[in-house]
Amino acid sequence: MKVLIVGGGGREHAIAVKCSESSRVDKLYAAPGNAGIAEVAECVDISVMDAEKLVKFAKENEIDLTIIGPDDPLVAGVADAFTEAGLRAFGPAKNAAIIEGSKAFSKDLMKKYNIPSAAYEVFDNAEAALSYLETAKMPIVLKADGLALGKGVLICNNLEESKAGVKTLMLDKQFGKAGDKIVIEEFMTGREVSVLCFCDGTNIKPMTSAQDHKRAKDGDKGLNTGGMGTFSPSPFYTEDIDKFCMEKIYKPTMAAMKSEGRDFKGILFCGLMLTEDGPKVLEYNARFGDPEAQVVLPRMRNDIIDVMEACIDGRLDEIELDFEDNAAVCVILASEGYPEHYEKGFEITGLDTFKDKEGYYVFHAGTKSEGGKVLTNGGRVLGVTAKGEDLFKARANAYEAVKWINFDNKYMRNDIGKAIDEQ
Ligand code: AMP
Ligand code: GLY
Repeated sequence: MKVLIVGGGGREHAIAVKCSESSRVDKLYAAPGNAGIAEVAECVDISVMDAEKLVKFAKENEIDLTIIGPDDPLVAGVADAFTEAGLRAFGPAKNAAIIEGSKAFSKDLMKKYNIPSAAYEVFDNAEAALSYLETAKMPIVLKADGLALGKGVLICNNLEESKAGVKTLMLDKQFGKAGDKIVIEEFMTGREVSVLCFCDGTNIKPMTSAQDHKRAKDGDKGLNTGGMGTFSPSPFYTEDIDKFCMEKIYKPTMAAMKSEGRDFKGILFCGLMLTEDGPKVLEYNARFGDPEAQVVLPRMRNDIIDVMEACIDGRLDEIELDFEDNAAVCVILASEGYPEHYEKGFEITGLDTFKDKEGYYVFHAGTKSEGGKVLTNGGRVLGVTAKGEDLFKARANAYEAVKWINFDNKYMRNDIGKAIDEQ
């Protein structure tokens, strides 16, 4: 069959590699793809947001399945455009992707259906938000309602910081319309875990767990980023916790979306915090995590096409998800200065070293090909993933493999997976 992947980051590269391993895929396309994806797929220059062109391409090229990777097109309804044209797409419809697109929606959903999460209030008026803060307990968390590249969450330690936060989000509109409405939420503490789940509208099946490192610098210092590295599985996500989450979070979320007439088909990413009072939902995303996909998918034994088709057809109950009994670590190689100011256009060397190495992957995020060379072309440049028989081996392998790659201004965190030392 012919498969089109919409997207061009590290997550889509991981999806593309998995698709290329499927015996059912004869031809793989990616829009727009990137220099790494181009090794396994034909890249076509169409924007992820251009539903009309994407559908036209899929029709003309008789695409059997389109996989939509990023949040923006899902929230904008690109999956709906495919379905309306009679084409098969993997990814939630717009009315279900709202679970990521609006934090106020997801918080209200959790409250209505008793799904454990932090206490909160929603405000669409800065004055009311500021007066609420006067008597609120600190620290406190402010969240822009809409999509903000993972950066619309402010953790405020005191009244002054929180008031400045309301100004940033609602008055200065740092994230544009995403800040028209904000959620003000109780601050929670605990370990964070990402659990990505396949969903068919009725059934939900969690994949193996992962943990992301969102801050730019070692020791969880510096600014929030799209993610600086991941490991999988999380040793803190035990079988008991998994059972609790299945009964109190995953199944109730599916049922809640169904009751609301918003059947969720695709990937539901549950960002969890393991608090003293049990696991609670930090956020939902309507897609694979980036860079969670880069550690979860390399460990998956299933044919990804079989699983995705079962989700679309509402027969996920027939599928048994199967993951390797090992571990994986992904270290992001970024451009010095990310997530603020950084330079691009430097030549990357060493990519070929990965070609014949079983259990090692280099996923491209911000790269481009030019004159036979691969150049840096973004803040997050590459994700280097290595597997190992346990987390310690996987981490050692990943930090060995990052040495194979060189480019000017190469920057990475040196403590990805450090939490495993404390288990
Ligand atoms: P989100 O995009 O909602 O996952 O938030 C980004 C990050 O902010 C999370 O990964 C957490 O580290 C942190 N965060 C979000 N909500 C809370 C909360 N209620 N309490 C503590 N930390 C939070
Ligand atoms: N790694 C977090 C995310 O994809 O939102």
